[in-house]
Amino acid sequence: MFESFYGFNSTPFTRNIPTGELYKSVLLEETLGRLEYAAERRWFAVVTGDCGTGKTTTIRRYAQTLNPSKFKVLYLSDSKLTPRNFYKGLLEQLGFESKFYRGDAKRQLHREIELMRGIQHLQPVVVVDESHLLDREMLEEVRFLLNMKMDAESPMALILVGQSELWERLQLQAYAAIRQRIDLQCKLIHYDRAEVESYIQRHLAYAGATRDVFSEAAIDDIYRFSSGAARLINKVCTHCLMYGAQNGHRIIDDRMVKRVIEGELS
Ligand SMILES: Nc1ncnc2c1ncn2[C@@H]1O[C@H](COP(=O)(O)OP(=O)(O)OP(=O)(O)O)[C@@H](O)[C@H]1O
Ligand SMILES: [Mg+2]
Repeated sequence: MFESFYGFNSTPFTRNIPTGELYKSVLLEETLGRLEYAAERRWFAVVTGDCGTGKTTTIRRYAQTLNPSKFKVLYLSDSKLTPRNFYKGLLEQLGFESKFYRGDAKRQLHREIELMRGIQHLQPVVVVDESHLLDREMLEEVRFLLNMKMDAESPMALILVGQSELWERLQLQAYAAIRQRIDLQCKLIHYDRAEVESYIQRHLAYAGATRDVFSEAAIDDIYRFSSGAARLINKVCTHCLMYGAQNGHRIIDDRMVKRVIEGELS
């Protein structure tokens, strides 16, 4: 394993990185701040970004940083989410067995949320990940969820998280009623060259590296290959570390990165 060769005490560039150890880009901090504001105000927010740019990771961090005595985060990630499973999933996370029919389950959810807010003073924050995969019916249901007292007050903060095509879909006329209700939009973008370097350093620091592993020119190539998407950075770095360890190279240079990309990743 490359960990012992490089003297790491944990594995960098994996999805298991604890949320406290993340690379805190300016955009990540800003997004967390804006989403916290959305939670306070029970806003409807939409978070989009290309695949692998850190949306789910941002939500993981968000769920950990929100004050647990004020907010209750309910997280759903189901590509085939139906309205019935939506209510069922939320009720289960609140510790209740859902009523069978959709209408009953919806009323039950609204009641439980009212009680939670009234008695425990907890604000629900509903996060629906992979929202770009939701069908029209489900997106419409989301819209109805926000209307509790005839549009006067939203019962919860709702955050739709999805790939960039979600935002494009919401621009269609058919989704105007949903779009108009959006209070906050956050777009996650790819890292630039400097951020890719800081990102790599953060993962290496988390792993306990005591010296640099990637040369500057290697980082240039990692940036070009990944176009600054975190998941692709992870992939190319992991392959480079395996290659480097197998071949006894403590420093990974651009020639090695090119060889790995051409041989294993292209
Ligand atoms: N700020 C960060 N610090 C450290 N690692 C990160 C950070 N953001 C993302 N990552 C890493 O990048 C990987 C991909 O991120 P994530 O799964 O959040 O992307 P995503 O935008 O949700 O992708 P998809 O659209 O495919 O769902 C994660 O497994 C994580 O290891
Ligand atoms: Mg994701």
